[in-house]
Amino acid sequence: MNYSVIIPAAGQGKRMNAGMNKQFIDLEGMPVIIHTLRVFERDVLCQNIVLVVNDQEREQFVRLLHRFEIKKVTSIVPGGEERQQSVYNGLKAVGDTGIILIHDGARPFVTIKKIHELVQVTEKTGAAVLAVPVKDTMKKVVDGQIEKTVDRSSLWAVQTPQAFSVPLIRHAHEQAKEEQFIGTDDASLVERIGHRVAIVEGEYTNIKLTTKEDLLFAEAILRTRGDQ
Ligand code: CTP
Ligand code: MG
Repeated sequence: MNYSVIIPAAGQGKRMNAGMNKQFIDLEGMPVIIHTLRVFERDVLCQNIVLVVNDQEREQFVRLLHRFEIKKVTSIVPGGEERQQSVYNGLKAVGDTGIILIHDGARPFVTIKKIHELVQVTEKTGAAVLAVPVKDTMKKVVDGQIEKTVDRSSLWAVQTPQAFSVPLIRHAHEQAKEEQFIGTDDASLVERIGHRVAIVEGEYTNIKLTTKEDLLFAEAILRTRGDQ
């Protein structure tokens, strides 16, 4: 089944501390956001891309889309204060039916194989996310002291894309907005209105570029993959 994707890229990249929005950081000759967009540009199931950007960076993004011949971006919409608001703005620019993926601009290494697995599960369940089992032992800590060891077998680190039927994610975002709830991802908005969200096992290489050291991992991932 075809899908549309919303790509929020309107953050500031504060934790990266690069002096600019991390979307523009160069990785082997291409900005991060172009690496991300190229995955969806290549995927035949991806119908169109809604890109969410800061108003003052809009021209910069438009120039990059031309330069790297990204053709599937059908709307560029303004971001909001929080990621959730940026996604909400993106939702206004998509149709009323079908499947929508929401994928961080700062997560350039997602694979088409995993996207297709995710879409297939979402067709059946209406909501699914990519996630990986946590590898470290997890402790609950209070005031600098370990309170307990959390059972790792039930813990997963969630990634993007997160995929939903359009009416469901619209409803979840509307409800959160009405109740002034801010979640750290889109799935949490769906969970809180009582809808189940399926997990699709993803890849550890689908990292989000958050802090400086992630750029080292990024280079290593690109080197092992070669040009796609
Ligand atoms: N994002 C967005 N609008 C916001 C905040 C974030 O579109 N108001 C986007 C970012 O551009 C990024 C994705 O959401 O692609 C994930 O957010 P995060 O990794 O937190 O990026 P930043 O918010 O840019 O980074 P930081 O939190 O370190 O400032
Ligand atoms: Mg952020």
